[in-house]
Amino acid sequence: MASFASRRLQKERAEWRKDHPFGFSAKPMANPDGKGQNLFRWICGIPGRAGTPWEGATYKLTMDFSEDYPGKPPKCKFVFVNGKVLFHPNIYPSGTVCLSILNEDEDWKPSITIKQILLGVQDLLDNPNSASPAQAEPFQLFTQNKEEYLRRVKQQAKDVANGGQKLFRITVVVDFMTPHTVLLATTKPFAKDAVDAIKLICEEHGLLFEKLEGYKDRAELYEAVASAEACIVRSDVCDEEFFSHAKKLKVLVRAGAGVDAIDLPAATNHGVCVQNTPGQNSNAVAELAFGMLLAHKRNHFDGNSGTEIRGSSLGLYGCGNVSRFMILAAQGFGMDIYAFDPFLTPDQIADLGAEPLYDVPSIFKCDVVSLHVPATRETKRSIDEKLLRSMPKGGILINTARKDIIQEADLLQALAERPDLSYLADDKPDNTEEIKEALGASRVKKQFLVTPKKMGAQTAQANSNSGIAAAKQIVEFFRGGLVKHQVNINGKHF
Ligand SMILES: NC(=O)c1ccc[n+]([C@@H]2O[C@H](COP(=O)([O-])OP(=O)(O)OC[C@H]3O[C@@H](n4cnc5c(N)ncnc54)[C@H](O)[C@@H]3O)[C@@H](O)[C@H]2O)c1
Repeated sequence: MASFASRRLQKERAEWRKDHPFGFSAKPMANPDGKGQNLFRWICGIPGRAGTPWEGATYKLTMDFSEDYPGKPPKCKFVFVNGKVLFHPNIYPSGTVCLSILNEDEDWKPSITIKQILLGVQDLLDNPNSASPAQAEPFQLFTQNKEEYLRRVKQQAKDVANGGQKLFRITVVVDFMTPHTVLLATTKPFAKDAVDAIKLICEEHGLLFEKLEGYKDRAELYEAVASAEACIVRSDVCDEEFFSHAKKLKVLVRAGAGVDAIDLPAATNHGVCVQNTPGQNSNAVAELAFGMLLAHKRNHFDGNSGTEIRGSSLGLYGCGNVSRFMILAAQGFGMDIYAFDPFLTPDQIADLGAEPLYDVPSIFKCDVVSLHVPATRETKRSIDEKLLRSMPKGGILINTARKDIIQEADLLQALAERPDLSYLADDKPDNTEEIKEALGASRVKKQFLVTPKKMGAQTAQANSNSGIAAAKQIVEFFRGGLVKHQVNINGKHF
C-alpha cells in the first residue's frame, strides 16, 4: 500500500495539474533509469515577480520529500547558477532555502501545500529577511550597499534567463538482466578479504568481476577499463584520458570519500555517474586523529609528564562524516567542540553535538584544530600564516584531510617561529625534510608528528567497508536503478 507521504504527494500532483499559479512549474523528476518518476523529488520553477529585479527569469528549485512528509517539510534547494549558489541573503551556500514555513521548528504546518511553498519562496526572492542571514556576501550587500546588491540580482536574472541553471542528471539506461562487467582497479590493492567480499557481492547479483591490482602503467588501466561498465577505484587518478578510454563506463565508484583525483567535469561530459562511499572509513580516520593527539600530549609515551585534553577546545573545519566521529570521541574526552561547515545549517551542526562557527578564523581560536574538509578550490591552500599565527598558545593543528589544504611554506615558518605550536598530520607535507631541518630533532619531537605514509583509512574494517559499500552501490545501480552518493549532480561538482 502506498505510504501516507506518497498518497499526499499524489494528491498535491493532481491538484497542481488542475490549477497552479501562472508561470510556475512543479513536477516529480524522472527516475535515473528513465522509467517513471520519483514522487519524492520534484523540480520546480519560480518566476521572478514582475516589477522586481528578479523578473525576466524562472528560477529552478528542487524539493526533496521524506517519508515523514507532511509531518516534516520538504528540503527546498535552488539549482546552482553557472556553478554558483543563487545570490540571495536567505539561501545557504548549499542552495537550501532559509524560510520559516520550511522549518518544522518554526512555521511549518502539514497543511501547507506545494503551491503555498512556491509562492512563499517567490515572495522571499524580492523580500529578503535580514533577521535570518544564510549567505554572507548578498547579506552584506543587501544591508550595506543596495545599489550593488540590485546590480548583482539583475545580472543573475539575465544569467538564469540565458540558461545558467542547468540541472544535470545522468539517465541510466541499463538492462537489469545484462551481466555487466565491474572492474576493480586499484594501484593500492584492497586486503584479500575485502576483494573476495567485493567479488562475491558482484557475482551473487549476476555481475562479472574483473580486477587490475597494483598496476604501474596507465596503459594497463586504459585497456582494462575499455570493456567495463562499472569501475571501483581508490585514490587512482581518473582524468579526461581515463574517461576517453572508458567507452562503456556508466558508473565509477570511489571507494572512500575524497574525489579530488577524479576529473568530475570530464566524467559528466562522458556521461559517467561518479559516486563515493562516504562514511565508511570515517571512524578509522577519527581514531587516528585522536591517537596522534593523545600520543603527542603524552610525549609519545617516553615516560615524561604530559598534558590532558579534557576541558580544551576542539575546532573542526568541515563537519562531515569524519567530524561526526571526532565529535563522539571528543564528547567522551570532555572537550568543548566547535565546527564550521557552510554546507550545513547551524541547527544541523548543533544537532551533531558541536557549537556552530561562522568562519574559518574562528576555528583557529580553539586549542586543537582538526581539518576535515575536502580539497576544493575554496579549501586548497586555505590554511595560511595568518591563521596559523592566530592559534592560541600551545595550539595543535591536526590534518587528516589533504596536505594541499595547508600553505606549506607558511607552516614551516609558523612552526619555526612558535615553539609552542604543533602539527600532526596523516598526509606528509612536501617540505617535511625542510621542516625537520629547521626545527632540529628535539623540537620535531615536540612539534611535528607525521605518519610515514597516509594511514588514516588503513584499518582492516575501513579497508573492507568502503570496497563492500562500493560493490553494493554498483549492484543497486544496475539491479535496482538506484543512484547513491552521486558527486556529479545538479550542475555542481562536490
Ligand atoms: N587520512 C585519510 O586516510 C582520509 C580518509 C578519508 C577522508 N580523508 C579526507 O578527509 C576529508 C573529509 O572526509 P569526510 O569523510 O568527513 O568527508 P565528508 O564529505 O563527509 O565531509 C566533508 C565536509 O566538509 C564540508 N565542506 C566542504 N567545503 C567546505 C568549506 N569550504 N568549508 C567548510 N566545510 C566544507 C562539507 O560540507 C562536508 O560536510 C576528505 O575529503 C578527504 O580529503 C582522509
